[in-house]
Amino acid sequence: MTHSRIIGLGYYVPNNIVTNNDLTEWMETSDEWIQERTGIKERRYFEFGKDTNYSMATAASRQALERAGLTPDDVDVIVYATITPDYFFPGSAFLMQRELGMAGKPVIDIRQQCSGFVYALSIADQFIKSGMYKTALVVGSEIQSSWIDKSTAGRNTAVIFGDGAGAAVLQATSDPEHCILSTHLHADGNFAEDLYVRDPGSSRAGRAVTKEMVEEGGFNVIMNGNAVFKHAIVRFGEVINEALSANGYSPEDINLLVPHQANIRISDYVRQQMGLAENQVINNIQRFGNTTAASIPIALAEAWEMGKLKDGDLLCLAAFGSGFTWASALIRW
Ligand code: UT7
Repeated sequence: MTHSRIIGLGYYVPNNIVTNNDLTEWMETSDEWIQERTGIKERRYFEFGKDTNYSMATAASRQALERAGLTPDDVDVIVYATITPDYFFPGSAFLMQRELGMAGKPVIDIRQQCSGFVYALSIADQFIKSGMYKTALVVGSEIQSSWIDKSTAGRNTAVIFGDGAGAAVLQATSDPEHCILSTHLHADGNFAEDLYVRDPGSSRAGRAVTKEMVEEGGFNVIMNGNAVFKHAIVRFGEVINEALSANGYSPEDINLLVPHQANIRISDYVRQQMGLAENQVINNIQRFGNTTAASIPIALAEAWEMGKLKDGDLLCLAAFGSGFTWASALIRW
């Protein structure tokens, strides 16, 4: 039976560090409030003229490919998750494919917000398990900083988000001891407007983009933070347990949990719920904030760099976000 294995990880974050104190120049907030409520100390914002969504993804992908000992020619398919693409269409996967010189190879752009990377991983895993492709490049990349409202009116979302990209190379293997064991995907559109950006979209009468939309704030991220928080702490636990029981494991079998970096309080709650020690959960939200689809692959690549991914370890990825969506992946490293 064919499985898929992660054989290379990479990430890229912009050089531009924006501290909590820097944010106080634009909005009424404080370093103390942000750290206490979210755990975040600083995040990265893209530098115009240097970073774009696809350029960051390309840098992360090149690093992942190099670490896998492969070149872009070896890749059969790109699955690219982002909610902040370079263009409205076509998606950023096309731009990255062009940059990597892979014309003719299929690319798939998906959204799925904070669960985007786990969804993308699952899609690539199914392609490989079915035998359709042997090698896949899975990417999460976001430029959130140009979407958020940096005035006091937008402070409940603005302080959370950051920019960055992460990538993983998946390859077919027949080794059941070193592979993705299973992935689990969920969504509930009943909560679509609890975390969303309305415009530009076709929900409007007349033109999809108008001058009035800017004044109405249609381009801003609207979030019911308390609802997101309450659902997140339940769904994270559920979807992790689903992955464990599907494979005959329980929480004490987990070596490492890499959760989506939404809020340190969510992460701590899930860690305690699962009975895991602090060093069994990767948290880098302090330095990068919430980078949506990029947060898990960045954290995973950092974990690998720190030597935290050991041969045979049971690794769990878990995400929750807008949609609502929630998802997990259980991996034997
Ligand atoms: O990846 C998925 C995406 N999102 C999430 O996972 C977010 C989940 N939600 C959260 O993390 C939290 O709900 C937030 C961090 C967004 C907000 O924290 P909270 O503890 O739920 O605060 P709150 O929204 O209940 O607001 C409490 C107070 C309010 O003031 P009053 O009404 O009590 O006077 C807010 O106006 O804090 C105020 N506030 C702020 N103050 C300073 C909200 N944002 C800020 C801010 N700085 N940035």
